[in-house]
Amino acid sequence: MQIINLIFSLLVLALALQSQAISWPHSHEHAVLDTEGNELQAGQAYYLVSAARTGSGGGVALDRRHSSHSSTVKQHSSNTNLGSPVSFSPASNSHDDMIIRKDSFFEYAVDAMFHQNTPSPQERTIHEATDLNIRFSDMPVVWQVQESHHSSPKSYALRYVTIGGQPGHPGSSTMRNWFKIKRISSSSNPEYRIAYCPSVCKSCPVECGNVSIMEENEKRWLAVSQYREFPFMFVKARRA
Ligand SMILES: *[C@@H]1O[C@H](CO)[C@@H](O)[C@H](O)[C@H]1NC(C)=O
Repeated sequence: MQIINLIFSLLVLALALQSQAISWPHSHEHAVLDTEGNELQAGQAYYLVSAARTGSGGGVALDRRHSSHSSTVKQHSSNTNLGSPVSFSPASNSHDDMIIRKDSFFEYAVDAMFHQNTPSPQERTIHEATDLNIRFSDMPVVWQVQESHHSSPKSYALRYVTIGGQPGHPGSSTMRNWFKIKRISSSSNPEYRIAYCPSVCKSCPVECGNVSIMEENEKRWLAVSQYREFPFMFVKARRA
């Protein structure tokens, strides 16, 4: 009987130590939802469109600004144009291999016993307020914040959203490549803002902002602003 008590005590101790060792980085964060109410998944294609009503334009696509060397992300001015699909990948995918939510831990453990190396479904879910790479689905490079000059009425520096970043490798050298999705409204059709406020490098100075729309020569460019955020929603892209 004493032996059984001892074994039981050791087992409890082992479990306690194990649960201490596992952290739950995403357990307090909500999944980002698409317009059908499904959780956004890493690597899947979505149209990133305006969530504001009439006259606020459609989806995002790539175009060239006159005064810039790099391709810049714009928003179509037509409400009916969904633009080019984009995909998201969390920073954690490339440097944490332990992303398990508390509520799914036992499910995961059982799953892992029977199917070795099966990734947890949560590993692929995009959560609010986590560092993400954004890319156009058919391109290898990711979105990047780049300072450039706005042409009119007078020239001043703006931080445009361009492409050209290397995916992954969260840290000081990739600071400009990380965005976060944050919920604006709490209605059943949630609207989101895209924030630029990376946490991939704690010691790097960063001026946070929200992705907004900057009109210039009849085109609507995505730029990081201190004041205005633009409301977006995610429409799942269906492959033809
Ligand atoms: C981004 O937008 C949110 C919501 O409107 C606002 O609370 C926040 O201050 C903005 N952030 C920056 C850095 O401008």
